[in-house]
Amino acid sequence: MEIKSAEFVVSNTDVKKCPEGNKPEYAFIGRSNVGKSSLINMITGKKGLAMTSSKPGKTQLINHFIINDSWYLVDLPGYGYAQRGKEGRENIRRIIEDYILEREQLTNLFVLLDCRLEAQKIDLEFMEWLGENGIPFSIVFTKIDKLGGGKLRENLNAYTKKLLESWEELPPILLTSSEKKEGKEELLNYIDEITKS
Ligand code: GTP
Ligand code: MG
Repeated sequence: MEIKSAEFVVSNTDVKKCPEGNKPEYAFIGRSNVGKSSLINMITGKKGLAMTSSKPGKTQLINHFIINDSWYLVDLPGYGYAQRGKEGRENIRRIIEDYILEREQLTNLFVLLDCRLEAQKIDLEFMEWLGENGIPFSIVFTKIDKLGGGKLRENLNAYTKKLLESWEELPPILLTSSEKKEGKEELLNYIDEITKS
């Protein structure tokens, strides 16, 4: 799929105020700093579309971007950022959970994981929560430019092994680097396939 247009639409803390209509949407979620906003910029080819930062906690709202006038990409705040304090974290958690549970247009959620890290409790628990609530999701390993091929394969094998301890089947897994613009075609084609099915 080719992206011909990508425009920012609206930012929200309240799922009820998100765009109306029945266009399908795809949201990016994961820990703060994992690279959600950067990935939106990379796949749309628009550098400043979603705001990014080297400091975690940059995205604090539900951000809708309309793609090719026909579907939405959604940038969400990251979870688990310690510096926010307990109340701040609770707030963000509520925004994310309400969005995921109530947004009927949400067609698939992409859970982003930093390929350099071993499986983190917070991500595993989050994916379990998605499973319990019947939310369709896929995994995107980010920042693959940071690892050599051997180490990358080793980490992915360890991660999938960990997942198979609690999941009978693995979700679809994609690999990306926003820095090196890798994984764009695969991700867009994957979205295209889900939209058509
Ligand atoms: P929050 O909005 O805080 O939840 O973070 P986020 O997940 O949106 O992360 P963001 O896209 O802002 O990126 C965080 C940092 O990681 C920035 O310094 C990016 O430049 C860097 N980064 C993102 N993707 C990649 C990547 O593929 N490779 C490398 N090397 N750095 C990346
Ligand atoms: Mg962000």
